[in-house]
This record gives sequence, C-alpha cells and structure tokens, in this order.
Amino acid sequence: MKKNRHELVEKHVGWFAVLSIVAISIGGLVEITPLLFQDQVNEPVKDLRPYTALELEGRDIYIREGCVGCHSQMIRPFRAETERYGHYSVAGESVWEHPFLWGSKRTGPDLARVGGRYSDEWHYVHLMDPRAVVPESNMPGYPWLDERKLDGRLTARKLETFRRFGVPYTDEDIASAKEDVQGRTEMEALIAYLQSLGTSLR
Ligand code: HEC
Repeated sequence: MKKNRHELVEKHVGWFAVLSIVAISIGGLVEITPLLFQDQVNEPVKDLRPYTALELEGRDIYIREGCVGCHSQMIRPFRAETERYGHYSVAGESVWEHPFLWGSKRTGPDLARVGGRYSDEWHYVHLMDPRAVVPESNMPGYPWLDERKLDGRLTARKLETFRRFGVPYTDEDIASAKEDVQGRTEMEALIAYLQSLGTSLR
C-alpha cells in the first residue's frame, strides 16, 4: 500500500512547526506588505495638523491617567456608530499618532471625534466631577489635574522625537514648545487635546 505522504508532516512535530510558520508567514506578508505602500494608509488626510505643544502634553496625560482603558478612539464604519459619533475613522487621521490610542474597551463613549462637541467649560466640570453633568456616570473624577502645572521641561524633546517619526514640526514649534506649556495646568492641556480630536475630518 502506498504510504501516506502527509504522515511525514503529521508525525514529525519539527516539520509541522516549520511548515506552519512558512504558511502563516506567506499569508501575513500577502496581507501586510501592500498596506505599507498604499497612500490611503500612509498619507495624512488633507487637513491633518500636528498636535500643538499643549495638546501633545494633554495626550500624555490622557495616556498616564489610563483614559484609553475606558474610551476607544476608533469609529467603525457601521451606521449605529456613524450616526452617533460622525464620520468613521480613517487611517490617514492616525499617521502621526505614536503610539495609537485606538483602544478596544468602551466603558464610555468613543472619543475619536469628541473635539468641538462640548465647550471647554463642560469638559472642565465633567473632568472635575463627571456626576455634576451626567448624574448616572461611572467615570472617575480627575480634580488633581487642575492643581498640577506643567513645567515644560521635556516638551521640546517630545516634539523633536515626534519629528524624527515624520511629524512635520518646525524649528519654531520646537523652540517655543516649553514657553507654550509652562505654567498651564494639566487640566488645560487635557482639554486642549480632547478638543482637537477628530477635527481634521468631519
Ligand atoms: C472607568 C471608566 C472611565 C475612565 C477611566 C474614563 N472615562 Fe470618560 N467616560 C466614561 C463613561 C461611562 C462616560 C459616559 C458618562 C459621562 O459622560 O460621564 C464617559 C464620558 C466621557 C466624555 C464625554 C464623551 C461624550 O461624547 O459624551 C469624555 C470627554 C471623557 N469621558 C473623557 C475621559 C478622559 C479624558 C479620561 C481620562 C482622564 C476618562 N474619560 C476616563 C468612563 C470612563
């Protein structure tokens, strides 16, 4: 009886592992490689602008405080989401995001287009004590952000680092970065960041 050729693979775990890796790698390359060369994925959307120094500091506070653990920034192309939040998120809005804050947990609403939806005053009251404006909210308050001031010590270096990753900051942006944030509260920075979200595409 003719020997089953596939036994060579099925009975030798080493061969099985090697061939599985080869098969998965080909599949991965076929999916991922074209993305690296597609304008739709690499090119910023038309009105995208880099974060100001203050917004960038606010973004770091957003990361530090773990907002991403309850909020996504990724509107999916479903009617239920686009009617609630606006245009679905596109890759060209995120080309200068390092790292991405798309998130995956949605205890609270998606924030990808929260910029301009509320006034700065609303955000202030909400971040101090969410239940002051949304009685049923289970979001924690962040009152200490209003007491802590930015010293701007590292702001210029942050902009420089982003520039190294291709974000088009100018020498003037970097030179004035420290001055732009020094003495402002962390609360102001976070609100500036929130107000910028999603505003390059509506
Ligand atoms: C424990 C989960 C949780 C964390 C952590 C959290 N939030 Fe929320 N957030 C919520 C929930 C729930 C709501 C909806 C109720 C409300 O508006 O308070 C919300 C609402 C919001 C809204 C209003 C969105 C809208 O479209 O109405 C903003 C803005 C917001 N959060 C920002 C933040 C920021 C900034 C942080 C970090 C400093 C943060 N949240 C941390 C749960 C959370």
